Amino acid sequence: MEILVISFLLTSICICDLEAQNDEQLHPDYFLNITELIEKYGYPVEIHEVTTEDEYMLTLFRIPHGRQESGVNSKPIFLMHGLFGQAENYVVAGMFNASLAYLLADNGFDVWLGNTRGNMHGRKHKRLDPDTKSFWNFSWHEIGIYDLPASIDYVLERTRTPKLYYIGHSQGGTAFYIMNSLKPNYQQKIILASLLAPAGYFNNFDNPLLNPIVKFLKNMFPVLINTMYEFPPKSMGLTTFFANVCEENIFRDFCLRMYNVFVGYDSGGINKVLLPLLLKNLPTVCSKQIFHYGQAIISGHFRPWDYGKQKNLEVYGRDVPPDYPIKSIKVPIAIYYTLGDNLVYPKDIEKISEDLPNCVRRYLIKKPTFTHIDFITDGAELLNIPVLEFLKNFNG
Ligand SMILES: *[C@@H]1O[C@H](CO)[C@@H](O)[C@H](O)[C@H]1NC(C)=O
Ligand SMILES: *[C@@H]1O[C@H](CO)[C@@H](O)[C@H](O)[C@H]1NC(C)=O
Ligand SMILES: *[C@@H]1O[C@H](CO)[C@@H](O)[C@H](O)[C@H]1NC(C)=O
Repeated sequence: MEILVISFLLTSICICDLEAQNDEQLHPDYFLNITELIEKYGYPVEIHEVTTEDEYMLTLFRIPHGRQESGVNSKPIFLMHGLFGQAENYVVAGMFNASLAYLLADNGFDVWLGNTRGNMHGRKHKRLDPDTKSFWNFSWHEIGIYDLPASIDYVLERTRTPKLYYIGHSQGGTAFYIMNSLKPNYQQKIILASLLAPAGYFNNFDNPLLNPIVKFLKNMFPVLINTMYEFPPKSMGLTTFFANVCEENIFRDFCLRMYNVFVGYDSGGINKVLLPLLLKNLPTVCSKQIFHYGQAIISGHFRPWDYGKQKNLEVYGRDVPPDYPIKSIKVPIAIYYTLGDNLVYPKDIEKISEDLPNCVRRYLIKKPTFTHIDFITDGAELLNIPVLEFLKNFNG
């Protein structure tokens, strides 16, 4: 059973590939931390810390200007990563237009890279010890109502501006929807949101591997979040974890299939050079984040955590949690999505873009085999340039 749970939770893949690489083949960036990485490419970097209302402490990284400038660029933009991600996601692809953070910094934006609670830059709390269960009791709901508002307020205060631009990948889109639905005064603080494969609706989720696992596990979510609250346990680390699981003969096939699921079936493969960098920067997450997506897949509703009827009555005053009021979000939103996504399906993106009252752009990536992970590793001309051009020309 545990193994099946673990299987469901496997979100990244081919340790087989990682193992095949020896040190000489590893990208030199592999050995750098995020600040060293940003400096290596010729950009300035600042480290900031923000404390949320519920006292999680999150690090923000700032690239205040591009390679050729000095001072501080005039347009603040806040970038939020996805599940199993962190600030590194936006710089890991390296030079020029390959990394969205650098491209934006070179084009007049004051770039702020956010981190969610629980990742390597958010594993701190004023009172709670991250090595204990009490720290690990959150989902993307809390990221939406606490982490984003605190980070955005911090950036606005530091830059002395009333509004900023927002970018969010995957769960960074989920949390954005939630913040704007439940804390509507934040809508006035956003000029334009560019959401990259944002996860919201899951009515058309059709992942051939994850779908059956989610259905199989559905009655166990509450037990699982109580027993395996941090996933995978920190002592193991995600990379070691995958290496161990995938080394077992019985899981070889499974691991290969996972690889296909995430890479896409005919995409010509993941970016093998960057994969080790990505894996190195995979943090642990709270398992509730994963099971909350599981609940969305089962119920077809985008809504807060479902505790079961009894406790729902206590918490929400009704049998089931109320849906997030997506239709109340008036912020201009540009959505970027792809046919090759095996986690956030195009039909679900199309549906939510129709429900959002101010979806100003729905951009389909011009390569059908572009995958969910390619948003991080292979953006360049396919994603980053279209995002930048639209930002530059947008008159809110
Ligand atoms: C990266 O490492 C350098 C030392 O090599 C250190 O000064 C810096 O604070 C580190 N950055 C982070 C984000 O930990
Ligand atoms: C993106 O960068 C590559 C080099 O890394 C360059 O060849 C290409 O022209 C750039 N594209 C744009 C639109 O700037
Ligand atoms: C986790 O938080 C919820 C509220 O968000 C609370 O009802 C629940 O009791 C907490 N669980 C634990 C184990 O602290």
